[in-house]
Amino acid sequence: MISKSDNNDGADAVIPRDDGIDYYEAYQRELDKNRLYEQELAFLRVELEKFKNEAAKAYLLSKERHKDSALMSAQALKTINDLHTKIRELNGAKKNLREAYKDTINRLAVASEYKDNETGNHILRMSRYSVYLAKLYGQTPEQVEEMEFTSPMHDVGKIGIKDNILFKNGKLTDAEFNEMKKHTTIGAAILNNPKSPIIECARQIALFHHEKWNGRGYPHGIKGENIPINARIVAICDTFDALTSKRPYKMPYPIDVSCDIIGKGRGEDFDPDLVDLFLKNIEGFVKIKDSIDEDGEDEETVRENFTWSERDKEAGKT
Ligand SMILES: [Fe+2]
Ligand SMILES: [Fe+2]
Repeated sequence: MISKSDNNDGADAVIPRDDGIDYYEAYQRELDKNRLYEQELAFLRVELEKFKNEAAKAYLLSKERHKDSALMSAQALKTINDLHTKIRELNGAKKNLREAYKDTINRLAVASEYKDNETGNHILRMSRYSVYLAKLYGQTPEQVEEMEFTSPMHDVGKIGIKDNILFKNGKLTDAEFNEMKKHTTIGAAILNNPKSPIIECARQIALFHHEKWNGRGYPHGIKGENIPINARIVAICDTFDALTSKRPYKMPYPIDVSCDIIGKGRGEDFDPDLVDLFLKNIEGFVKIKDSIDEDGEDEETVRENFTWSERDKEAGKT
């Protein structure tokens, strides 16, 4: 066999071989293979370059997107924080406003009882009795809190009643009683157009606390559950406090006499369910009374001095 090879002067030279292999052919095949590899490599280089460009574009795009989403996350976080701050501020303002309402109500209640000999304690007892009965009735903590501040306001309208009627010892004439009744509508007028639920509650109590379960009360003669529950609660507490306290027209009545009067008013003057709750828990009410009237007369002395008032005698309650 023969094969070609380069000699020193550049001409192909035939190099004889005796191993039976055509080295020239093999060389040519290798060259062809190399050329193919080169072509494939060039193609791959182009593809790689394309891929590199695509990858770079994708990277830039995702970087932009990431930047956007990072920006959005930061904005969302800031908005959430701002909202939290606003909510905190609003809650603070709401609390302050509620405190301001409560403060105003308290001052009005003091003003309404200012002429009375026994100013502060009636307000305090009314508040504590009403809260206690409201809790026994199952009112929510918010409703109970409203009762605490609005129950002492029930007689705010007495500001508009003349002293000679307000402090009269004996029985009121019909004309005087009609004047006295106006303290409900005067109270409602003072609290008219309420801007908050707590003032609305106070308005209802001032207007309806002399309504009776059987519809024979005043000023509107509404009956049963048409009378707002807060006014029904106050009606019992106010009666209990009036009965067990000294008033211009009466001595304090003993607890059992007072309970008897309230019991007789069950389903007539008062909500029967509230009367049941009241009488069942009378010890709690007496405890409240004793804790406020520390210097008050003991039950023994009250019993010894007890006489029916002229008003109750004439009303046939004895
Ligand atoms: Fe009243
Ligand atoms: Fe009262």
